[in-house]
Amino acid sequence: MENLSLLQRAVPLLLEWYRVCKRTLPWRGTHDPYKVWVSEIMLQQTRVEAVKDYYVRFLQRFPTAEALAAADEEEVLKAWEGLGYYSRARNLHKAAKFVAEGGFPKDFAGVRALPGVGDYTAGAICSIAYDMPCPAVDGNVLRVLTRLLADETNIDSAGAKEKFSALLKEVYPKEAGEFCQALMELGALVCLPNGEPQCLLCPWRELCLARLHGEWERYPVRAPKRARKTEEHTVLVLRHEGEYALEKRKKGGLLAGLWQFPFAEEAPEAYGKLLKTKQAVHIFTHVEWHMTGCLIEAKERFPQYTWKSAAEIGEKYALPSAFKAFRGWLR
Ligand code: ADE
Repeated sequence: MENLSLLQRAVPLLLEWYRVCKRTLPWRGTHDPYKVWVSEIMLQQTRVEAVKDYYVRFLQRFPTAEALAAADEEEVLKAWEGLGYYSRARNLHKAAKFVAEGGFPKDFAGVRALPGVGDYTAGAICSIAYDMPCPAVDGNVLRVLTRLLADETNIDSAGAKEKFSALLKEVYPKEAGEFCQALMELGALVCLPNGEPQCLLCPWRELCLARLHGEWERYPVRAPKRARKTEEHTVLVLRHEGEYALEKRKKGGLLAGLWQFPFAEEAPEAYGKLLKTKQAVHIFTHVEWHMTGCLIEAKERFPQYTWKSAAEIGEKYALPSAFKAFRGWLR
């Protein structure tokens, strides 16, 4: 009950702060559910700064669900190239076909049923597009709320999101979209995860229990992190008569079904003349790739690979960012 009355006082302060301090971002100011959906999918696990230009370009290319549904998958993946977590693009494309047929779903359950849309994203879309009281609770929102309330809940525990979601529902204002984004904005600009939160700039500075107790470092309470595993890969940039070898990754798992420079199964010299090598590391959520790139004049046009010119690769084939360090070798 105490939590509830504290939150009730916090809501108008947050909304007022948001009106004055929010960033101008390309997806703000629209209620078009298609556009809100695209932005929220892009923003899953990806920083605002990284998303901005992709969002604008994607919507120029695919301005409606119908346009997206009519595109080829390769074309959609190409527009997503470099943004990572490519299953998002595949799901978006797949879901666009439903949306083009039946219209954008009008309630939480319908939105939540779209491929690639979880509780958080469905909450954000319904709040922002429809001003529905549907909380969107992620790690940022949990940090902001556990600090405000000096709440010891382990935010990695089962039920933590549900608990705060239920609490937010009780105080959701009619400006649901503004409120939803204001919570995100506070977490992004003021109540920072790393380094000191900017408490003096915070609209909740007089209310926040973590600050009033001088204990913001204690929140949020988290489970210890799992270590990431490391994989070693030898990456082959095989060149043969002006073309380069690509292989398609297998269907399940990391970067599923995307094109890549082949991983070596034998010593690099077995493929031809080794011209250059380069080390690179790419960090995914659960694994780190430690790669040795090898530029090789291939001794034959190995038939197990697909061969393409640098120009074709540049235009049509979405190569994941993990391979960026070796792209400069393409001529
Ligand atoms: N992160 C997730 N959704 C967002 C949004 N709509 N604005 C800013 N950051 C976000």
